[in-house]
Amino acid sequence: MSAVHEELIDPKQVKLDELLDHYKTQKGALIPVLQQAQDIYGYLPADVLKQISKALRLPLAKVYGVVTFYAQFRLTPMGRNVVRVCLGTACHVRGGAKVLETIQKELKIEDGGTTEDGRYTLEIVACIGACGLAPVFSVNNVVHGKMSPDKVAGVLAKYE
Ligand code: FES
Repeated sequence: MSAVHEELIDPKQVKLDELLDHYKTQKGALIPVLQQAQDIYGYLPADVLKQISKALRLPLAKVYGVVTFYAQFRLTPMGRNVVRVCLGTACHVRGGAKVLETIQKELKIEDGGTTEDGRYTLEIVACIGACGLAPVFSVNNVVHGKMSPDKVAGVLAKYE
């Protein structure tokens, strides 16, 4: 019988409840709460923002104001595959911008965007520690080095 009950419990909601309970009386808690809520969900769903607003006794408009101000927060889920294009110095001087341009054209999204089918999210980053292989991009933290625009489509196609 208890097994049935356990299936109904949403582990993410349990974590969020614990988080809100921990911070609800603390001043200046909004940003750490948003960061940790995003770690739980992968992004910040509207319903979660409402719960945060209520628990911290802050107007929902203020919560949205903070979320939209900081680039680290996401209001939409990540794609199944996260493509990070490096524009750090080593990658930049070896043609990283051309690689980025090709990826943007291929996926039809900008920095921070997700394709409509949810297959890819694109992020621009500065140095992912593989400068010797510049220019590089990673997909789901797997680094693809010595990139050139003509290799981009073949790499992306491997990620369903
Ligand atoms: S600059 Fe691109 S990996 Fe270091």
